[in-house]
Amino acid sequence: MNDNKDVNIYDFDRVVDRRNTDCLKYDFAKERTGREDLLPLWVADMDFRLPEEILEDLKARIAHGIFGYTDPKDSYFDALNNWIEKHYGYSVARKWVTVAPTVMFALANCVNAFTEAGDKILIQQPVYYPFGEVITDNGRILVDSPLKIINGHYEIDFSDLEKKISDPELKLFILCNPHNPVGRVWTREELLQIAILCVKHDVILVSDEIHCDFIYPGHEFTSTLSLGTAYRDHLLVLHSPTKTFNIAGLQIANAIIPDKKLRLKYQKANAANGYSQANIIGLKALESVYTKGERWHQEMLQYLKGNVDFVRDYIQEHLPKIRLIEPEGTYLLWIDFSGLGLKDDELEDLIVDKAHLWLDPGAIFGPETAQFERFNIACPRKTLEKAFRQLKKAVYELEQENQVKADQAS
Ligand SMILES: Cc1ncc(COP(=O)(O)O)c(C=O)c1O
Repeated sequence: MNDNKDVNIYDFDRVVDRRNTDCLKYDFAKERTGREDLLPLWVADMDFRLPEEILEDLKARIAHGIFGYTDPKDSYFDALNNWIEKHYGYSVARKWVTVAPTVMFALANCVNAFTEAGDKILIQQPVYYPFGEVITDNGRILVDSPLKIINGHYEIDFSDLEKKISDPELKLFILCNPHNPVGRVWTREELLQIAILCVKHDVILVSDEIHCDFIYPGHEFTSTLSLGTAYRDHLLVLHSPTKTFNIAGLQIANAIIPDKKLRLKYQKANAANGYSQANIIGLKALESVYTKGERWHQEMLQYLKGNVDFVRDYIQEHLPKIRLIEPEGTYLLWIDFSGLGLKDDELEDLIVDKAHLWLDPGAIFGPETAQFERFNIACPRKTLEKAFRQLKKAVYELEQENQVKADQAS
């Protein structure tokens, strides 16, 4: 491996054909829409291939040929703890960790462990839409404390938050840290205020930190578990390498719960759902990416920053009526189309039928964001350029059409 830090050794420009690999992003999009013309920038995984040194570790385990029941050993916990100590500044004791197949499975466990049917659970919309589903599908009541957009920047409305948290029927707060889709990396001060409110009103805080390794220059990730021990009896973190290293299909996540009482409740709900041993390839992948993936991760982040810069510049130059919400973290861009003056269904028509893109429409993230679209930019620049060229052409043609109609009407 080249040790010169100034030279990039991984090629994120490489376009890997993912079609016919059973992936959601391309194959399911086609199955769902019946169309082949749509360029997908939707589901949150990346079009980047793992580096050879990690693939070698996985191949070596596969070559053994026996895949019986498996439990994580010291090397798994050491790899996890080393990554966390280095990147987020706190240490994880082995007993705090309960392995899960996915963050959403662990989140559903939390809902069952810490609330009962009819209890209220708080989220901050617009937010990753399965949060709402896991609340209502389990017969709990969704309470929203909407994020406020102030001068193009999303903020927490703390007076609304406290009003809602202080409701004695509200038992759980699901925090997205960093926040998908608005791209906020919550500051230590914001997180402290949240933690203090949760302790004061006896609400359990579940911090979903799956996007924590995607932070842009000028911002710093703060794990809720690094806020200090005072909040830990009301707090747990859900964490996973699956976004960072693009291994969602290998299904590996961890619930990190320092407090014994919370942990036992969580583990009871986990057992009630019938989960015990983890997927061996997922375990091996976590160990390998956290021990060998640092450089790939750094270069990938640099590449993503280049993608954000590309989108910002392109919008400024060619699409002045749409507005990028400047991301502080994540590879999901939240873009406001309200400047085009379209009705909600006309916007969807523009994106799908005219621009031939498959995105996540803003309406699925909350009740007030139908004029937004979420773009996944974790792809080679070439793919992103194609998507934005298609968008530019569609907007240009639509504006031409509208101009002709306006001229005819006058
Ligand atoms: C905030 C957030 N949590 C959880 C998930 C899903 O993670 P998992 O596949 O581990 O359930 C995603 C995926 O996009 C996400 O954005």
